[in-house]
Amino acid sequence: AIERTLSIIKPDAVAKNVIGKIYSRFETNGLKVIAAKMAWLSAQEAGEFYAVHKARPFYADLVKFMTSGPVMIQVLEGEDAIAKNRDLMGATDPKKAAPGTIRADFAESIDANAVHGSDAPETAQVEIAFFFPAMNVYSGR
Ligand code: CMP
Repeated sequence: AIERTLSIIKPDAVAKNVIGKIYSRFETNGLKVIAAKMAWLSAQEAGEFYAVHKARPFYADLVKFMTSGPVMIQVLEGEDAIAKNRDLMGATDPKKAAPGTIRADFAESIDANAVHGSDAPETAQVEIAFFFPAMNVYSGR
């Protein structure tokens, strides 16, 4: 089915100047950018976005990293967009990511892992709504 997913190019990949290279992977694999913005997240925004991880030991470092520089946030649309984006990203830990995936090619560590992608339809919906009002999502054309 045609789905939408929320993608974030994290501060490490923005700093490396590979936004375009990562967008190319989306585009050549049938994922269309239908909303996008660059932002430098506050601790409150990053903390709220990652609220599901609040109890995890890595939460404080995650929020610190995600506020260390600007990020590029986009909605991707396409056939099986959620799973497809996760395939393109590769495993959360770049050391375990398959060759040719975004994290294998552009990420350094489990914290600085280049990209985020929604993991399920329910989280995609919540994450898209968190960053983009419906009027700023341009589907289909
Ligand atoms: P992301 O997909 O953005 O979701 C939560 C992030 O927490 C994850 O990518 C990693 O960058 C980071 N993280 C750090 N340590 C861990 C861990 N042990 N397990 C999962 N995610 C972790």
